[in-house]
Amino acid sequence: MRLFITFEGVEGAGKTTQVEMLHSFLVDMRVSVLKTREPGGTALGDRLRPVLLEPSEVPFAPLSEMFLYMAARAQLVKEVIVPALNHHTVVISDRYVDSTIAYQGYARGIDISLIQRLNKTATNGCMPHLTVLLDIDPEIGLQRISSKPLRFIGNGKDRLESESLDFHRQVRKGYLLLAEKNKDRFFVVNGRRPKEEIHKLIRQELVRRYPERFAKGA
Ligand SMILES: Nc1ncnc2c1ncn2[C@@H]1O[C@H](COP(=O)(O)OP(=O)(O)OP(=O)(O)O)[C@@H](O)[C@H]1O
Ligand SMILES: [Mg+2]
Repeated sequence: MRLFITFEGVEGAGKTTQVEMLHSFLVDMRVSVLKTREPGGTALGDRLRPVLLEPSEVPFAPLSEMFLYMAARAQLVKEVIVPALNHHTVVISDRYVDSTIAYQGYARGIDISLIQRLNKTATNGCMPHLTVLLDIDPEIGLQRISSKPLRFIGNGKDRLESESLDFHRQVRKGYLLLAEKNKDRFFVVNGRRPKEEIHKLIRQELVRRYPERFAKGA
């Protein structure tokens, strides 16, 4: 069975935490599983990641930013995601196509249908079967991140985290609209719940969707 799961949400929503928890759970179940992240996951993507995320004085036009994300994505799909799915490995990605629609589309204002077309080209139509949206007020998400050890000089935030609260509110709104428009694919969870509870809800959702595969041990 081909199964591709993505995690989305604003900064500090708990994506990486839940990706790790689901990955460990599936490993324990002896499911062949691969976790990856955007931007990154390939040699090229790992080079583009600091370009995209490190705070910098270099101006970024919204379109340039979007194309860099698309470049990292095209490489990730071709090199990692599609080969793994072809081997019936479950793929879990920390961010994917919806991030670009939420951030570069809803928040930065690039035409959504253009992003959708480019997403389709960059991914060769490889869409997730399930997208978990960890929904949280960005103020709380950003607060959580601010208590993490400083990762960058200056205020310690990455380039996107440094955007205004209003920007992050647009991102959240964009995600919720996407979830509304793609009800079958999205599973929206309140990101303020405790980590373990969220993890359990995600496991229950997997059992509900794929009982043959996940019923035992869930
Ligand atoms: N459900 C939760 N309740 C409280 N704190 C949480 C929860 N989930 C994660 N955290 C904490 O919040 C911080 C951010 O979590 P995490 O790194 O998983 O978020 P993220 O969505 O991956 O963030 P980023 O957008 O920066 O990658 C971490 O310190 C993590 O331990
Ligand atoms: Mg993360």
